[in-house]
Amino acid sequence: MKYHIVTYGCQMNLHESEKIAGILRDKGYTEEGDIDEADIIVFNTCCIRENAENHAFGNIGALKRRKREKKDLIIAVGGCMAQEKGKAELIRQKFPFVDILFGTHNLGELGDLIDRKRAQKKRVFSLKEERGETEDGIVPVRTGYPGAWVNIMYGCNNFCSYCIVPYVRGRERSRSADDVVSEVRSLAAEGYKEITLLGQNVNSYRGEDGTTFPALLDRCGSVDGDFRLRFMTSHPKDFSEELVAVVKRHKKICNAIHLPVQSGSDRILSLMNRRYTREKYLSEIAMLRREIPDCAVTTDIIVGFPTETEEDFRDTLSLVKEAGFSSAFMFIYSPRTGTKAAAMEGQVEEEVAKDRLSRLIEAVNEQTRTISAGYVGKSCEILCEGFDGKKKLYLGRDEYGRMGYFASEKDRIGEFVTLKVERANGISLYGSIE
Ligand code: SAH
Ligand code: SF4
Ligand code: F3S
Repeated sequence: MKYHIVTYGCQMNLHESEKIAGILRDKGYTEEGDIDEADIIVFNTCCIRENAENHAFGNIGALKRRKREKKDLIIAVGGCMAQEKGKAELIRQKFPFVDILFGTHNLGELGDLIDRKRAQKKRVFSLKEERGETEDGIVPVRTGYPGAWVNIMYGCNNFCSYCIVPYVRGRERSRSADDVVSEVRSLAAEGYKEITLLGQNVNSYRGEDGTTFPALLDRCGSVDGDFRLRFMTSHPKDFSEELVAVVKRHKKICNAIHLPVQSGSDRILSLMNRRYTREKYLSEIAMLRREIPDCAVTTDIIVGFPTETEEDFRDTLSLVKEAGFSSAFMFIYSPRTGTKAAAMEGQVEEEVAKDRLSRLIEAVNEQTRTISAGYVGKSCEILCEGFDGKKKLYLGRDEYGRMGYFASEKDRIGEFVTLKVERANGISLYGSIE
């Protein structure tokens, strides 16, 4: 019996797919890379933007014929879109060949749902309300070697006006600090070389004994072993000097911060309910650069938020320059039913938003290229993550998140290698082992 998992969305979801794999392995399934060969197919979905949903719907729909040919194939849909209000009903009606549906609060029940489906042949759709749990006890099948993800918290309380995450992931709940640290310790002992702590807003982490995020990070950074530590995502409203001090103190913690700004206009930031101003954001970056001058800052930006004017957008463009982002994830605003912003007047026309996105991408790319070009002739330490079959080169990232490619006779995956950078192409560096 073989499983195939299709994952959409963020790193949280990628990690949850590893837990889904853990459940399936316990049920006796083995992994199958070819979707057509699988006996069970699980879609772990995302609903952050409309196109994430459309992708999932398209791929689920494509299985209709497959299911007709292979009657005992099990198709399961889980994750954020499954948890979204009204979507379970829609999936029930539109995709009669979907056998199992589960949400973000009952992923741990997937094994039982499969048993029920097998026993009764009827479709099993099961959603739960949030139960405040922080431990699922599921042993994940890790797929990211040499990297590994560790959840430190679940959910979000921020209710940014455009965002659906608080509705589909529930309120914030933090795992115990001891559990997080012991997971990091075992991963380091198992030989993982890059450990990423995950939460929607890591800065609001609170451990059982009042442990703050900087204190947790400090403990994780003190774990023995030859590994790098990363964390995401930081919310600018809670970003602190204390956190920066911890990053500075530990060599293991990468000098790279992902700090989503979303917009450079105070008016838009306020409508987004982000609870910081452009000035506060830029002062945080200045503080960070004072303390850790080489720190890379990456961000997320939304264009075309309701009522965004050309002037607001130019504020975003100028902020990109001032903040000196080394790269950014950039999105066109996508209205999500049930969120505050979806009901706002002044939705921006698609053509205008598309034009802004391409201008923004150009501005960010220019900065990325300049930073990459600055690497040429220098050395950088790369953690080798994989092999690019097309380029016939090994690849990996430096601590700042820059991708480096190099040739090697021997398999280097999982090794730290020092590259002499010979050329830069956009965001990527090319070099040879020193
Ligand atoms: N918790 C993280 C990120 C969550 S989602 C944070 O607060 O930073 C990742 C990114 O998706 C967000 O930072 C935002 O830029 C984008 N995003 C969220 N909702 C969106 C929407 N409705 N339309 C477009 N982009 C959105
Ligand atoms: Fe969404 Fe805002 Fe929470 Fe991030 S902090 S998940 S953008 S509501
Ligand atoms: Fe992540 Fe998408 Fe859910 S971004 S939290 S998988 S809505």
